[in-house]
Amino acid sequence: MSARPMIIDTDAGVDDALAILMALADPSVEVVGITTLNGNVSLPNVERNVGTILNAFGAGHIPIYRGAARPLLVDAPDAADIHGADGLGDAGLRAPRDLESTHAALGIIELAKRYPGCTLVTLGPLTNLAIALSLEPNLAQYIGKTIIMGGAPKATGNITATAEFNIYVDPEATALVLSRGNLQPTMVTWENTLDHPILWDRWEALLDAGDMGKRFVRPMCTNLMNWAKTRNRPGMLMADPKAMAVALDPSCATVAHVYMEVDCGTGIGRGMTAVDPIGFSKKPANTYVATHLDIDKVIALITKATAVACHL
Ligand code: RIB
Ligand code: CA
Repeated sequence: MSARPMIIDTDAGVDDALAILMALADPSVEVVGITTLNGNVSLPNVERNVGTILNAFGAGHIPIYRGAARPLLVDAPDAADIHGADGLGDAGLRAPRDLESTHAALGIIELAKRYPGCTLVTLGPLTNLAIALSLEPNLAQYIGKTIIMGGAPKATGNITATAEFNIYVDPEATALVLSRGNLQPTMVTWENTLDHPILWDRWEALLDAGDMGKRFVRPMCTNLMNWAKTRNRPGMLMADPKAMAVALDPSCATVAHVYMEVDCGTGIGRGMTAVDPIGFSKKPANTYVATHLDIDKVIALITKATAVACHL
């Protein structure tokens, strides 16, 4: 069976890096392009980080596209306090490379048309995807599956009281994707992440699984591990690897098909992703929200990535 083509859209930070390595290490998929945007850290840092991740894996042939430097309408804070100023844990991991001249939004369209039925995985804000949908309203005809890391249907926020970071950075982009995209995305949420921490003993085991774990992932995550331990967290949360696991193996998640809407207001609810499983809104379901993850399957897929050689 030939490998499924995959496009990854990322604001490469630490957990994005691990998710990208999972895709590169899985023979069932072929990463055909990576698009970048502002989010965890600024766009130049994200661009450099994606080059570094690909060079660490030895995947220098995969094209990287420069995307949105700002959200559509309202600027938002970054997450450098979690991911480090450079976005890869300030561990000195640096191996950048050249990018394509085509903008990321056009890159998503071109790759989707070149690889019809491809899988699109978004690991950051949805600005690039919203722009791509504005340029090509029929994009959904070319994309097989869309998996989004984002949202908090129970309003368990991680950047505000009610909102998850990726959605909060660009709620307007999310609203466009949900209302006009016809993508019927699978959304792996912040609450899925909170419900399924990677407990410390299992986290240490996956870091020690091989060269990439020991020489790339561990130094990249050291500051974040210390941050989590000083707050008595039960383990590492790692949101993007959970979304990537669902993209690689849909049996990692149980999902519910619901209508979802995002709050684009300016109050405490900005970026909140409200769902309507009962159907009060009488609007058709537009999202498959993950309700449960099989953390054993997720950890097995992460371990495939930490076991490979590191070429830095
Ligand atoms: O809320 C978690 C998400 O925000 C992850 O994608 C993380 O990388 C940050 O982008
Ligand atoms: Ca991310």
